[in-house]
Amino acid sequence: MFKPEDFIQKKIERIKEVVGQERALVATSGGVDSSTCAVLAARALGKNLRIVFLDDGLMREGEGERTKRIFKRSGLDLQIKKVAKSFFKALKGIEDPEKKRKVFREVFYKTLGKIAGEEMAKFLIQGTIKADIVETKGGIKTQHNVLEQIGIDPKNYGFSVIEPLKNLYKPEVRKVAKALGLPKEIWNRMPFPGPGLALRVIGEVTPERIEVVRRVHLIVEKELKAFSPFQAFAVLLKDKATGIKNKKRAFGNIIAIRAVDSGDAMTATVTKIPWEGLQKIQKRITSKIPSVVKIVFDITPKPPSTIEYL
Ligand code: XMP
Repeated sequence: MFKPEDFIQKKIERIKEVVGQERALVATSGGVDSSTCAVLAARALGKNLRIVFLDDGLMREGEGERTKRIFKRSGLDLQIKKVAKSFFKALKGIEDPEKKRKVFREVFYKTLGKIAGEEMAKFLIQGTIKADIVETKGGIKTQHNVLEQIGIDPKNYGFSVIEPLKNLYKPEVRKVAKALGLPKEIWNRMPFPGPGLALRVIGEVTPERIEVVRRVHLIVEKELKAFSPFQAFAVLLKDKATGIKNKKRAFGNIIAIRAVDSGDAMTATVTKIPWEGLQKIQKRITSKIPSVVKIVFDITPKPPSTIEYL
């Protein structure tokens, strides 16, 4: 049986041993894995740890401030780094899913390398979990936070990597987060991928398209929370459709809504949302977001689908 307290003790000792008197950096997105990693590392290193949130323009609404508040309650200082420009610049014109993921990964680590240099941090402690490694090595999709396992040397970016959660799946990480005293709004949180909303727009990533999906996501997450899905989100499709807005023809956006139940994210089933719930979401989205004229609900489990679209 997995004992989170033993795990925590072991990992704290190990991080101390590896980092010694050096400094380390953690980047958190406010999600379960990276927050757990940050708190674990903070317990091990105290003042020798820097915790940053990359405000890359691809995160959920208000995420940086929210995460900063939560960390502050645990006595941890989170620095928000505004780096959206470089991400949008690098992602411009890219539509291919794997290319998008790899370009994101490159800017992500280059940005962290720069921050690590400024902070004189020799180590990056990151919340990569087993599912990320299995899917990347298996060629399903390139997760943004897998390097060494596929032959990329993190030293190229200026640091060594420590991955305390790399042998755990999501349910164990949640147990560790809980045992570390993180609030329920973190350990019970829906997963959100590192490349963020870049994976939630099919086709080109632009600030305008990201803003559409960010606004829709907020509605979807809030409305579907009552059905406790493992993950629920909106995707902006590349195609458009003819609709009617204010009694006029509108050739506008199509949104796909996905809600899935899962344990370890390796397989998933579709969350059964009552018809009334779906209708409520449809009304809220189409009335609040002018450019959306059509909404579809995704009924595909994993496999044959994956959870994300890209
Ligand atoms: P898929 O789409 O492969 O997703 O069924 C499985 C789980 O992993 C999340 N995911 C990611 N998480 N970086 C992450 O941190 C990534 O690049 C990434 N890609 C997928 C996804 O949201 C789901 O929970």
